[in-house]
Amino acid sequence: SPRPLTLSVIGVGYLGAVHAAAMAELGHRVIGLDVDADRVAALSEGRSPFHEPGFDELLLRNVRSGRLTFTTDYAKLTDVDVHFLALGTPQRADGLGADLSYIESALDALVPLLEARDGKPTLIAGKSTVPVGTARGLHARITAIDGVALAWNPEFLREGFAVEDTLRPDRLVYGVADQGNASTEISLLDTVYAELIGLEIPRKVYNFESAELVKVSANSFLATKISFINAISELCDVTGADVNDVAEAIGMDDRIGAKFLRAGIGFGGGCLPKDIRGLLSRAGELGSVDSFAFLRDIDAINTGRREYVVRLAKRLLDGTLDGKRVAVLGAAFKPDTDDVRDSPALDIALKLYSEGAKVSITDPAANENVRRRYPSFHVEDSVEETLRDAELVLLLTEWKEYRELDPASVRDLVATAQIIDGRNALDLSAWRAAGWQVEALGRP
Ligand code: UDX
Repeated sequence: SPRPLTLSVIGVGYLGAVHAAAMAELGHRVIGLDVDADRVAALSEGRSPFHEPGFDELLLRNVRSGRLTFTTDYAKLTDVDVHFLALGTPQRADGLGADLSYIESALDALVPLLEARDGKPTLIAGKSTVPVGTARGLHARITAIDGVALAWNPEFLREGFAVEDTLRPDRLVYGVADQGNASTEISLLDTVYAELIGLEIPRKVYNFESAELVKVSANSFLATKISFINAISELCDVTGADVNDVAEAIGMDDRIGAKFLRAGIGFGGGCLPKDIRGLLSRAGELGSVDSFAFLRDIDAINTGRREYVVRLAKRLLDGTLDGKRVAVLGAAFKPDTDDVRDSPALDIALKLYSEGAKVSITDPAANENVRRRYPSFHVEDSVEETLRDAELVLLLTEWKEYRELDPASVRDLVATAQIIDGRNALDLSAWRAAGWQVEALGRP
């Protein structure tokens, strides 16, 4: 069995907390650090600050075993072999690129600890998504410290599958300063991930710049697939074609692939929207404005979907939303998460509300997050209360419980049986047979 290391994970937000618990699960001693004392307190007691399938058990098991601890104090990180940086890199308020200040301050705090290691091999491994060129700049700050190396080790986890994606990733990517001279980086990361490498998960050693670009390229490509099929979906709406049929048949070509071709209200969350904007802005700085103009269109198609649904709702409600009772199923940016960052569902609900609709909304996991952000917004805890007397229903996040609703039994709750399926998630014929008028995006 592999040699256990002592690891730190600096920044235990979504990515960092999952990474920390997963690394403890692999047998390492892990210290998670965050400046947010409440978060550290919750995690230390084995309480998850967010909804993520499988994470609660993973966290609790590893906290109880003593392998996983949390702190707010850098002084606890003295004997660490590998420091993972999992800090947020939010979009800057001026819209121009990523705010790297959290990473910069973490490095400031680490430098004295690294100097005190007296040459013992120590690795800093960046996990955060950063603009290409960032790692090279950070590296310049630590090259003078004996024994210390930097690697960029991007993370590809999806919310809702975070535990599975961390413990069974499609690939491991190590970005290093010099591929010909990276034995410290490779040997420490190979020891961290020994169990995964043993499962024959591919491991690739690239230079910093490639590793940084892999991450934003992957997310931008995924965003492009979604906006592409959503653009096709608009043509389906006007011609009578069915976007699910088009997606199915083009997806049978392996060069295209069937995944990420589900048309609907588009993408949201903490990664895809931010990453396309980040790549666009970095490409501009690097002199490739024109070649990346398409990403602006990908973004515009995506946000346009939200307007499209609001217009459709208005049409179904005889030209005005004012005073209309509208029920929204789903607030999270996708199922199996309580994350409402840049959520298309919540954005549409807010637009309906701002045009005068009386909106009731519910979500199996995100209700508290919605209430906290929008205290005046009307959030219901049950589907029944949400649907009661509605003149229009919108299904905007395809949670299993909504996909499996019985159209006949919810028919009597509403005032008018009409529903917009914003996620291509419903069995149209079953809903229609139960007396509903169903509007599915891109489907006749
Ligand atoms: C994404 C990447 O998938 C992941 O690899 C990366 O590490 C982080 O960003 P995540 O943000 O968790 O993960 O969500 P993802 O499953 O990619 O979905 C993003 C959005 O696209 C969601 O709003 C989803 O509803 C939407 N989507 C996805 C579609 O509209 N259609 C699809 O076919 C697929």
